[in-house]
Amino acid sequence: MTGKHFCAASIVIFGGTGDLAGRKLIPALCRLNNAGLLAYDFHIFATGRSDMSTGAFIEHFMNHEADLFKKDKRFAEGFAGLRQRIRYLRANPGMQNEPEDFRRRLQAEEPEAAPARLFYLAVPPTSMESFISLVRPFSAARTDQNCPERLLVEKPFGHNLASARELNARLLESFSEDQILRIDHYLGKEAVQNILFMRFANLFFEPVWNHRYISNIQISFGEEIGIGGRAGYFDQTGILRDVVQNHLLQVLGMIAMEPPLSHRPEDLHLEKNKVLKAIRKYRPEEIGAETVRAQYLPGMLKGEMVKGYSEENGVMVNSSTETFAACRLFIDNWRWGGVPFYIRTGKLLPTKVTEAVITYKSTPHYLFKDTEHLGRNNQLIMRIQPDEGLLLKVDIKEPGSGFKLTNVNLDFHYSELSDEPIAEAYERLLYDCLTGDSTLFTRADAAEAAWKFLEPVQKAWKNNPKIKMYGYPAGTWGPENADALIEGECTGWRYPCKNLSNDGIFCEL
Ligand code: BG6
Repeated sequence: MTGKHFCAASIVIFGGTGDLAGRKLIPALCRLNNAGLLAYDFHIFATGRSDMSTGAFIEHFMNHEADLFKKDKRFAEGFAGLRQRIRYLRANPGMQNEPEDFRRRLQAEEPEAAPARLFYLAVPPTSMESFISLVRPFSAARTDQNCPERLLVEKPFGHNLASARELNARLLESFSEDQILRIDHYLGKEAVQNILFMRFANLFFEPVWNHRYISNIQISFGEEIGIGGRAGYFDQTGILRDVVQNHLLQVLGMIAMEPPLSHRPEDLHLEKNKVLKAIRKYRPEEIGAETVRAQYLPGMLKGEMVKGYSEENGVMVNSSTETFAACRLFIDNWRWGGVPFYIRTGKLLPTKVTEAVITYKSTPHYLFKDTEHLGRNNQLIMRIQPDEGLLLKVDIKEPGSGFKLTNVNLDFHYSELSDEPIAEAYERLLYDCLTGDSTLFTRADAAEAAWKFLEPVQKAWKNNPKIKMYGYPAGTWGPENADALIEGECTGWRYPCKNLSNDGIFCEL
């Protein structure tokens, strides 16, 4: 990231006392400050529903993120530089006259001749609309067309198709499409952007990137954390809405899209959205066989006993919220006809990992039938996190007499490029917002296409008692039924270690 022209020199975070602001947003802004990438008078206005002094907010933040202060020097140094420019303000849409009152209080805290603001709606989908009433008074505040006020909207965008449309309509009443940025932080991840570069900056992937050569594609996102203090949000949401509807379908879009005309936002959106629209909709009677949902049970994770989902604080008694989801889907277009895509994600799995695995078909005429074949097809693994990189699995001749094969890894790890850690997704995306670049943001039609595919699943999971909620012990890779989903493929799921090569050397399972 290099110095660009700043449009916004202050950010107003609704949900400023929440988990996302504490763990990701404020730390990302501090790291940008440490790298000299914020304007010298940049201000953060964190808001919450209650009255609190700025001093009390800072103290709460420092206590809550104490571990991060210890571990992350860039953040801690950036925070020291920004601390005097962080303010807390009450913003409670439930209170009378709050829109006008909030505007007055914000303006009183801003430096004179305040530049355009970036408003961040980091609140759950159910509260989005009420918070829009607080930003509405600012929508037409700027006359500078190049640097208007901007509104950043956190995912999930709505909680179903109707609410996503409704939310979009409300946003467009006060803001123009150019002012609205819908964030999906997976698009800010280096290795997700690299899918585009890898596919379209090299010649040799594209000719074999289709149904003729690819047998199946897996996208897995495992987390070893549970729901932490987020029961209030998560129990209402479930993992299908929390990460499949957005992060994983966006990754799918990057993998499956046609070559765009350019990397301009409109060209990328166009091709990615075509993929989302082409995902085959399940018939209601197929959902039981094509999807799997499950909840974690008590289990051992890294040597420690952890509790089950139903015992978590804040989870409703008899909650039917899924913490694991898997599905098989098809993209009905010329390139992908007949290729199954498998998606799997869960909380409290053995390790944190996100990767896409492309499994190729066997060669049309296999010369080495009589030799000891390892039975593995070529695979390309795009590791999104951690140990970001690429891995190509190929068969070669085992040295020595005879015709024995062995399978080897050709790999690249981002860590080999530099000792500098890769910037976190929110750093990149916040920087892009502040400098007015909307390439890595999604559009309303993408959210709608994703809901159109997933809404029948949500409905069937809720209303069809024949579709079971499975259990899986914490610290395992989910229920056996998720394995059954992929059983027909010669490779099954890839069970990754924390390191990309899966060679066991740094394996942290
Ligand atoms: C968020 C989800 O969008 O992404 C969380 O709400 C999830 O539940 C998080 O833990 C994962 O993000 P990352 O960048 O850690 O993979």
